[in-house]
Amino acid sequence: MGRRRRRQRLPQEPVEALVESLSHDGRGVARVEGKATFIHGALPGEKVMFRYTGRRKKHDEAEALEILEPSEHRVQPRCPHFGVCGGCSLQHLDPEEQIRYKQQTLADAFVHIGKVEPEEWLPPLVGASPWGYRRKARLGVKNVPKKGRVLVGFRERSSGFLADMDSCEVLHPRIGGALNDLSVLIGRLSIADRVPQIEVAMDDERCVLVFRILDPLTEEDKDKLRQFARERDFVIYTQDGGPDSVAPLDKAADLHYVLPEFNLVLHFQPTDFTQVNSDINRRMLHQALELLQPENTDTVLDLFCGIGNFTLPLATRVGRVVGVEGATELVARARENARRNGLDNVDFHVANLYESLTAEPWMKQHFNKALLDPPRSGASEILEHLPRMGVERMVYVSCYPGTLGRDAGDLVHKLGYRLVAAGVMDMFPHTAHVESIALFEKR
Ligand SMILES: C[S@@+](CC[C@H](N)C(=O)[O-])C[C@H]1O[C@@H](n2cnc3c(N)ncnc32)[C@H](O)[C@@H]1O
Repeated sequence: MGRRRRRQRLPQEPVEALVESLSHDGRGVARVEGKATFIHGALPGEKVMFRYTGRRKKHDEAEALEILEPSEHRVQPRCPHFGVCGGCSLQHLDPEEQIRYKQQTLADAFVHIGKVEPEEWLPPLVGASPWGYRRKARLGVKNVPKKGRVLVGFRERSSGFLADMDSCEVLHPRIGGALNDLSVLIGRLSIADRVPQIEVAMDDERCVLVFRILDPLTEEDKDKLRQFARERDFVIYTQDGGPDSVAPLDKAADLHYVLPEFNLVLHFQPTDFTQVNSDINRRMLHQALELLQPENTDTVLDLFCGIGNFTLPLATRVGRVVGVEGATELVARARENARRNGLDNVDFHVANLYESLTAEPWMKQHFNKALLDPPRSGASEILEHLPRMGVERMVYVSCYPGTLGRDAGDLVHKLGYRLVAAGVMDMFPHTAHVESIALFEKR
């Protein structure tokens, strides 16, 4: 007998359900005959008609067909591609409720994963507008002759294919309103089939587009790109191989962002990590420093420091800061940023913080405070060293509640810290991504 499981036929008839909660990826959750059913497009409190799209052992998946009784928090999505495009999953929920839901997601992670609770909840950090905030993005590109056009944008939620979209409401308007023109431009290139991706990087003025190209551009192609860049005030780069092959088509852009509160200017390259939402970034830096209570006698360790986004503001307020980062090129940029801003009380080191480290010179130093801003996978490996280094007060910035919950559990139950305060930040409105900040103090 074959061991492969036979695919179950999905029930075709619509089913009615009452939605109880929202899953961590923004789907409504209902119990249907005792089984959890994740329903796209449904919100808590709503009565909906849905149709099954997938059945699993422990849960089912579905799509809302009709909202019979809408939630008071339901709003009209602004984007015509909402529901198809996989970029956003919460545009149908009002922004205030989105942030409440994100705080609940974080609270759940603390309780269920870390078995901890913050002593205090910080008010959520919210930006001036939940639209047009995104300044960094990777746009997929695909020439689809059947559709008679080149698709430029994000992937579809359900298929993984590129969505057929001509605008985006969460991208900065300069790029969100240019998707159609980019599509036409690429369609006119001799290598229209050989451009799989455009990486976008913006600062307060400049907008760089890095075209990933799998074949060389002809002179005519270059002229078309130049004309487009001139008309739209873009700066075009190309990438024909690995990360080192990123190069300006003509003149390089001096990308930089200003942090007025600290009188700093931070320079970066188009493919460097930078925070996507510059308004929230400024507010986040302000809050992180307020929580850390910097004093000029402090020595602070900034882990996962990137180009020095937290390190340099800290250096303007404390005695000494050491930044540690895994990417050599980001450390080079951080050093250069310190030099250009006239800060000589900072040191930077390259280290893989996911390896078991012991002999690094900076680990033998004493730090009374720390700031951590790890990627999604968290900071598990380095945490155990913090008490020995003398860290009394620590701010942890996180882009994934699951790993913050886990790390908070270790800090509180194994390493002798208290979870003093925590809160969410609206870094990625309309998406289910949760950015948060937490303050720990040594008991
Ligand atoms: C969320 S970003 C924060 C960067 C910076 N703090 C900022 O605000 O711009 C995470 C950083 O961790 C770095 N990183 C990723 N994996 C790492 C590793 N294994 N060891 C050290 N740093 C790593 C990335 O290069 C990135 O700069």
